Amino acid sequence: MEGAVAVVLAAGEGKRMRSDIPKVLHRVAGRALVEHVLAALEGAGLQEIVVVVGHGGEAVRSYLGSRYKYAWQERQLGTGHALAQARELAGGASTLLVLCGDTPLLRPSTLVELLKKHREEKAAASILVASLEDPTGYGRVVRGPSGRVERIVEEKDAGPQEKAIKEVNSGTYCFDASLVWPALEEIKPLNAQGEYYLTDVIELFCLRGEKVLAVECPDPEEILGVNDRVDLARAARVLRRRINEELMRKGVTIVDPATTFVDAGVEVGRDTILLPFTFLEGKTTIGSRCTVGPQTTVRDSSIGEETCVSYSVVLGSAVGARCQIGPFAYLRPGTVLADRVKVGDFVEIKASRVGEDSKVPHLTYLGDAEVGKNVNIGAGTITCNYDGHRKWTTVIGDGAFIGSNTNLVAPVEVGEKALVGAGSTITKNVPAGALALARAEQVNIPEKGRARLEKKERSGEE
Ligand code: UD1
Ligand code: CA
Repeated sequence: MEGAVAVVLAAGEGKRMRSDIPKVLHRVAGRALVEHVLAALEGAGLQEIVVVVGHGGEAVRSYLGSRYKYAWQERQLGTGHALAQARELAGGASTLLVLCGDTPLLRPSTLVELLKKHREEKAAASILVASLEDPTGYGRVVRGPSGRVERIVEEKDAGPQEKAIKEVNSGTYCFDASLVWPALEEIKPLNAQGEYYLTDVIELFCLRGEKVLAVECPDPEEILGVNDRVDLARAARVLRRRINEELMRKGVTIVDPATTFVDAGVEVGRDTILLPFTFLEGKTTIGSRCTVGPQTTVRDSSIGEETCVSYSVVLGSAVGARCQIGPFAYLRPGTVLADRVKVGDFVEIKASRVGEDSKVPHLTYLGDAEVGKNVNIGAGTITCNYDGHRKWTTVIGDGAFIGSNTNLVAPVEVGEKALVGAGSTITKNVPAGALALARAEQVNIPEKGRARLEKKERSGEE
């Protein structure tokens, strides 16, 4: 896209969101609204991008980082005023592609087409337009008797006749830079909102006989501008459908796409099955032939092939191939499971490694643990990793067997092939191959002497 610079208007407060967060940072499908716009621009091959920031501008800038240039709009005086702030940074461009930061559904191909037509026709301005069943809230495209675009009128300034127009401005435009910069100096804030409207440039161009093009968006759904939380949910639904359809076309089975929530950028291998109420979020990769769900969240994690995860939450973890996770497991950040590990019900694992073929089948907490291969962790095992001041490590060697209801008071090591008796509280290292018993010995009182002792027991309890 040689010679074209993109300008993204993202300085507005977004009053209708009623939020403390700048509007363009609200997230859908795991990305901020403005990130979707930037991704579409990058997908269309635009390399030079200027983002106009203002309200919450520091937050927007630190969120997006140094890949882009930032122009500041100190006071939010309207979209025309916003674009004017980008003049210095985008000054060298011959063509400007201007977008709003709140239109997350635009496709790269639509932007490429808009630019292409704009250049072919050597237009002064090209507006991406769409016809909507319900045009409420959008600027309407007013055409003259010959069908030529004359101007754009905002909802708040429109009379009843204009309100009936279904053709709307998407807020995405191409401009001949040499014409738009001077025109921006001429527009006046004489409208219902007292703002400098970028759309007034269109009327100026038309009055002067400059060529203004209306380019129809192939899919009207793409132009959705998010102004409030209802729009936000609408955009999320469209993105969800797009992402799910793309996955299905790549060979993923999604049993119920309406209740499967996958963030943009998540990868899922073929013949994997996603069951209802599965949430795949952030930087996540799922291998082939897995079954994930129902009722499962996987965030910022990788899952190896043929692994099953059900009714579980997996955060910041790396799970190997052919593992079985859940139901009701909670894997917290820093968990690394090798291949063929089993993690069963009511098990929480944090910042721990578990080796191949090991099993943690039920009711266990592993925190800051190094567990070897072929280890069996009995039900109710707890690594006591926190002494109130700092965290300590538990090391369990290959082939060890930890009996049920064991406390492992860290720092502590259980050697290879060691056996820990059920109910033990282990405070000292267990050598390789040893049997460790750390529990009170059982006493059996014969029936004859039992009554006296029982009486004593009971009175002692009172
Ligand atoms: C705008 C258009 C409208 C169009 C619609 C498409 C104008 C006057 N109206 O209306 O014709 O149908 O988009 O979605 O342009 N912004 C700034 N600085 C400002 C004001 C806004 O940077 O001073 C940014 C906002 O952050 C936002 C974008 O410009 O990303 C659009 O502003 P918004 O207030 O949402 O305009 P709309 O009323 O939706
Ligand atoms: Ca808007």
